[in-house]
Amino acid sequence: MITENNGRFLIETDHTSYLFYVDPAGFLTHLYYGEKLFLTEDGIDAMIPVISNQNGCSIIADQKESTVSLDDWCQEASSRGRGDLGQPMIELVYADGSRSSDFRFESFRIERIKEQPDGLPGAYKEEEQEGSSLVIVLRDQKSRTVLELVYSVFEECDCITRFARVRNEGEEPVRILRLMSTQLDVRTDGQQKILSFSGEWAREMEPVETILSASRFTVESGGGTSSNKANPFIIFGETELSETYGQCYGFNLLYSGNHQETLEIGGHGRARFLSGIHPEFLEITLQPLESFCSPEAVQTFSDGGYQQISLHMHAFVREHIVRGYWKKKERPILINSWEAMYFDVREKKVLKLAKEAAKAGIELFVLDDGWFGNRYDDNRALGDWFVNEEKLKGGLKYLVDEVNKLGMKFGIWFEPEMISPDSDLYRAHPDYAIAIPGREPSLCRNQYVLDLTRKEVRDYAYECVAKILRSANIEYVKWDMNRQLSDIGSLELPADQMGELYHRYVLAVYEMQERMMTEFPHLLLENCSGGGARFDPGMLYYSPQIWCSDDTDAIERLKIQEGTALIYPLSTMGAHVSDCPNHTVGRVTPFETRGYVALAGTFGYELDVTKIPESDREQIPAQVAMYHKYNDLVREGDYYRIASYAENHYFDCYGVVSKNKKEALYTYVQVLNRPNYHSRRIYLKGLAAEKYYAIEGEDGTWSGEQLMNAGLLVQNPFGDFKGKLIHLTEV
Ligand code: GLA
Repeated sequence: MITENNGRFLIETDHTSYLFYVDPAGFLTHLYYGEKLFLTEDGIDAMIPVISNQNGCSIIADQKESTVSLDDWCQEASSRGRGDLGQPMIELVYADGSRSSDFRFESFRIERIKEQPDGLPGAYKEEEQEGSSLVIVLRDQKSRTVLELVYSVFEECDCITRFARVRNEGEEPVRILRLMSTQLDVRTDGQQKILSFSGEWAREMEPVETILSASRFTVESGGGTSSNKANPFIIFGETELSETYGQCYGFNLLYSGNHQETLEIGGHGRARFLSGIHPEFLEITLQPLESFCSPEAVQTFSDGGYQQISLHMHAFVREHIVRGYWKKKERPILINSWEAMYFDVREKKVLKLAKEAAKAGIELFVLDDGWFGNRYDDNRALGDWFVNEEKLKGGLKYLVDEVNKLGMKFGIWFEPEMISPDSDLYRAHPDYAIAIPGREPSLCRNQYVLDLTRKEVRDYAYECVAKILRSANIEYVKWDMNRQLSDIGSLELPADQMGELYHRYVLAVYEMQERMMTEFPHLLLENCSGGGARFDPGMLYYSPQIWCSDDTDAIERLKIQEGTALIYPLSTMGAHVSDCPNHTVGRVTPFETRGYVALAGTFGYELDVTKIPESDREQIPAQVAMYHKYNDLVREGDYYRIASYAENHYFDCYGVVSKNKKEALYTYVQVLNRPNYHSRRIYLKGLAAEKYYAIEGEDGTWSGEQLMNAGLLVQNPFGDFKGKLIHLTEV
């Protein structure tokens, strides 16, 4: 609930309070964000810093009303020009060339309906509710430019969202050099610990911990997507921060393009966090009466380390980001053709594979790359979205019908944002690719990116996909995006608007996916970007699941999925059992373990069932049953990390616990066996201390208290890469 009293604004979730006020000069001053406080009016007043004259040689922003030096002031929205030498949330260039802004409070309104960012994905609430959103209106003292700060609250998951909107109410153009989505200024003793994520193709979501003192730390992407190099999610807090200890803040951005997150600690100990569209890749000029809106950012607070941040963010994504028909539903177990046949797609092979898969209980056949145009390898044909009937004799409808007859759904792969130079589409429309006239565009995976910012191109790309979807009973789409943007140029944008292209591109992708959701409301959409290079809440607003990584090796997946699950709920993570030796790393792991690891996601297969060893194939029906037995728990339960193989190098353990704590499932994987070391004690998490539990397959009962504090002894299996499930139910 959001309330206001005498210029003091209080945003409260179930367990947190966020407080700021308007100071006498009209600067929006941040006072507190942390554990929920029961505040009296006097209590709030006592939080307002006392201004002394000890600012040394700092610049004073308003001599008349206060002696505030903004350089040492916690603000809600900083700008350049009046003495705050930290990074600004907003930076504008006015018609006279000046860059100094002076935004002061003008008015506010509190709304029942959650405010949505213009034309962008926004967290939503199923119902209206008193005090859902707060809009603060600030105005620049000279130019009349308006800055609106929009706050919304999601009480039950302890999340607060923010975005910002700038409107030019003056008579001259205003150029935006940066408009970040959120800012958090907090007092520190000069040091903070940061958890961020870096990575590459097949190595997504590698956690990086950094201790920052009096300097600036940046996470950023510049290739047009949120990227596998730097997820927009970040946590920072006290230096002792760990999985279960410490006060910290977690942030994410509902945006799928270039982003930047910075944490800067100044000489006075003020830590400033900013997140939003990467300012170096956005330049927008607002003509009079035009406005620009930033993407929405989400933040949460934990007084119990990373674990609580994950729980809050999972609930937020599950309830307020993921939409549509599949939001709460168990997803069909799929088999994907990619690692089974790569580009060598033939209808006979497809049907043979589908038949065997159906027999084993698999529910959805996904035809990956290689089914269209002249697509015999990855050198060609992107953009030529017509069925290759040499490969698929009888056509797509025939194939889909045949698969349906087996009792399976049918799904298909597209890469709608791309164009191969060797394609009919490119030969007819070379101008459809993003490029700079007179410069040879750079290739990546032998392809260019379509200039979806042009309506004609966007409509063409959308219609290609939609036509195929209308032509047969296709119930699932994998929407892939296999390269970053480069050589930024568009035929239709005038030179002075070229700085908008990256952002317009993201809006175009959103528009296409929204159209698709509207036209095919029951379609199950899985986003993918060469694996997890666009795994962000913006994409999850359109697709309930995203393919985590092209690396399907069970052991690599332990790390990738652990990193991903630090941020995103398991229900959003595409995970499959694949063949061995694994196609990416060559590792051989037991089929059983591959199943356990894929269970922590949407679950499916990516192999040729007709070719794998009989002993593996025989295990599929049991794995299918395992998925059906546990998926409600995995999808909706609370997720706990217990031991990380990436840290201890020997074993991994995590669990999901139902909301009512009556059921729990823990996955244990011994990665490397250790000689002369007979058993391990696993300290389970998330149970109810006072409840008693039975462990499936074992005699006896255990109290939650014992399992969490004294732990459970797990015997070392003989061999590497061995896994087991530990299933608990309340007795
Ligand atoms: C990307 C995807 C893979 C597969 C291939 C097809 O790499 O991540 O899963 O679909 O493209 O070309």
